[in-house]
Amino acid sequence: MGSPRTRTSDGNHRETSSDDAAERPVASGTEISALNPEFRKWPHEILDDLRLREPVHRDRMFDRVVLTRAVDVEAVLNDRTLSSDPRKSRNGSFTRKLFNVDDEDYRPTMLHMDDPDHKRLRGLVTKAFSQRSIHALRPRVAAVTESLLKDIPVDRPFDLMELFARPLPTVVIAEILGADPARHNDFKNWSEGQILMFNPARSEEQEQKLRWAVTEMRAFFQGEVERRIQAGEHRDDLLGQLIAAEQDGEKLTERELVGTCLLILAAGNVTTTDLIGNGIYALLTHREQLDALRADPSLYPAAVEEILRYDSPVVQASRQTVSEREVGGCPMAKGQALTPILAAANHDPELHSDPHTFDIRRMNQRHFSFGGGAHFCLGAPLARLETQVALSMLLERFPRLRLMPDILPVRKATPSLNGFETLWVDPT
Ligand code: HEM
Repeated sequence: MGSPRTRTSDGNHRETSSDDAAERPVASGTEISALNPEFRKWPHEILDDLRLREPVHRDRMFDRVVLTRAVDVEAVLNDRTLSSDPRKSRNGSFTRKLFNVDDEDYRPTMLHMDDPDHKRLRGLVTKAFSQRSIHALRPRVAAVTESLLKDIPVDRPFDLMELFARPLPTVVIAEILGADPARHNDFKNWSEGQILMFNPARSEEQEQKLRWAVTEMRAFFQGEVERRIQAGEHRDDLLGQLIAAEQDGEKLTERELVGTCLLILAAGNVTTTDLIGNGIYALLTHREQLDALRADPSLYPAAVEEILRYDSPVVQASRQTVSEREVGGCPMAKGQALTPILAAANHDPELHSDPHTFDIRRMNQRHFSFGGGAHFCLGAPLARLETQVALSMLLERFPRLRLMPDILPVRKATPSLNGFETLWVDPT
């Protein structure tokens, strides 16, 4: 059997011609990640091949099972008998190492908890993230966007990631949490250190940076929570709402409050930055889609969904088995780490007949970019709002925006996450 033919005309995929695919082993380990320059360039060529030849793939380098079919990814995300707690995977497994769970001071956040802890914590935090609470933030998100746009020169090329996509979500989240604007730069540095958590092949230097960022952030929020509680200070920002949140007589403990703030920063900053960058890149490389969007701004929500599907900022999730069982029709031992690849499921031809086409008007917009099941992204309404506001205001401000032809965009070498390091654009 030949290799899959991946057909599109854009920068995310290419046409493949080799017929010797069956003889090559499928990609595995770091090859299925942005640490691999080929994967950074043509992720869907590798993921399509994996889905076609080994949809339930045993990755020996990381001791995990990689799933690429939409049907399996969906089943795993929705299966509440699987665990999200990396401590339940076997010793030496991918997830144990990735999240440093064997450290003495490891404290799982909601993302890594199972019920009943997960249900209780999520219940307490959900209200602050409801559609209504988030909708009320639109003017603040627009004000932050406006202030960033004001500082971008209109007459010369600029790196969109540096001046716009990176600061925007950090400032928005810092503001929403109620942090002093003077600390915004700290937030940016901490977030950059914290995302190294998603890099299983981090160097010693990166490991230090990650630990530094987590320690600093924890100290900051610890201090802020203690100060507010002692002073009896009730503020209407997100931290204030989290401190006040109560359900069935239960409140978040101080440790849970701090952990939740860290998670919100980790989960919400870089992902939204990447969505904005990936969105602008997709639109600038598909001019007819960009023109359609400019002609009909009511398409912005659909455009953001298509960007999420087409170029997902989060590549994969993780789960583990807690007993011997089958997954994707294959037998699994207890404590088996599973990696459902969200980006592969979004491009499964069983789900979308033309998966590699970027089409903001497609009828079926299903995607797994916010995960699914009990851990479905709590920040999805905020991410959608920020990205809709960011894209619409940026494109309005720069009607002639285009990619810089002579400075190639650079994709980040961060596994699990998918976005640009630099993306030079020309507004003139
Ligand atoms: C484009 C932006 C975003 C993407 C693609 C994204 C993606 C995801 C995914 C895939 C998960 C599920 C992981 C799993 O099941 O293992 C998740 C969970 C989560 N996300 Fe997001 N996220 C985004 C933005 C945000 C924002 C802005 C926030 C908050 C400000 C946020 C907060 C969370 C939290 C708290 C969880 C854990 C929920 C739980 O464990 O119950 N995310 N996100």
